[in-house]
Amino acid sequence: MRNKGIGIFDSGVGGLTVLKEIRKLLPEEDIFYLGDTARVPYGNRSRDTIVNYSIQNTGFLIKQGIKLLVVACNTSSSVALETLRRTFTGLPIIGVIEPGSEQAVHMTTNMRIGVIGTRATITSDSYRTAINLLDNGVKVFQQACPLFVPIVEEGMHRTALAGDVAEYYLAPLKRHGIDTIILGCTHYPALSPIIKTVMGSRVTLINSGQAVAIKTYEYLSGHDLLKDGVQGPDARGRSPVRGHMRFFVTDDPPQFKKIGRLLLSREIDSNVRKVVLEDHE
Ligand code: DGL
Repeated sequence: MRNKGIGIFDSGVGGLTVLKEIRKLLPEEDIFYLGDTARVPYGNRSRDTIVNYSIQNTGFLIKQGIKLLVVACNTSSSVALETLRRTFTGLPIIGVIEPGSEQAVHMTTNMRIGVIGTRATITSDSYRTAINLLDNGVKVFQQACPLFVPIVEEGMHRTALAGDVAEYYLAPLKRHGIDTIILGCTHYPALSPIIKTVMGSRVTLINSGQAVAIKTYEYLSGHDLLKDGVQGPDARGRSPVRGHMRFFVTDDPPQFKKIGRLLLSREIDSNVRKVVLEDHE
């Protein structure tokens, strides 16, 4: 079991921001990443559709042989996590909502947290529910930012246009005086510099990907599931063993590689395979 891989899925390429954080913390683990690039974006779809796609994605990754699943997509984590846990009993599943919420509750001092995400994530109220389960006294202010994903995918996240769009979306959150903001979508870490500028240096940005990586590490070490023979990082913080990474997509790979380079800040040198997903029986 220990030598099985970690499965990660996302609606597309954005989940690579989560993969990046997991890779940093657990470089020796094998990773299977599935990006449902043929059906992205999930963020404007109905709950039933997102649940159905998420079940197919999970079924596919289980066939690759995984010991744990990370649902990197905030939209899927918001609406499909419970169904996935009920459907695939026995498979540990980590979503992005709880770890991000925990970190935000830990960081806030004025008990006012902002959440930005896709329409489906914000409508689901998943972050508000998770935050208030942790601390009922925290006030949560949410804002859907549907233009952020295409801006990042077009490589326009450092442009003046991105700044204007961020000003527009974030103005209500600024008025609410939040001191912490959850980047509740896989693509938003790429917009961190602009969001920081708009919100001001006193607002803490929470990247759920980092929180998920810590949760994944804690789960695997706590359940004796870390890969065999791991010696830990050397004096320069590098791990002597590097796990393999396999990438699967549901549409043609070139676009995935192009945006992937942008999100990972490096080339995807592993093979990216196009696959067809099946219904889960
Ligand atoms: N991966 C999605 C998320 O984190 C963003 C892209 C989409 O709408 O599918 O919510």
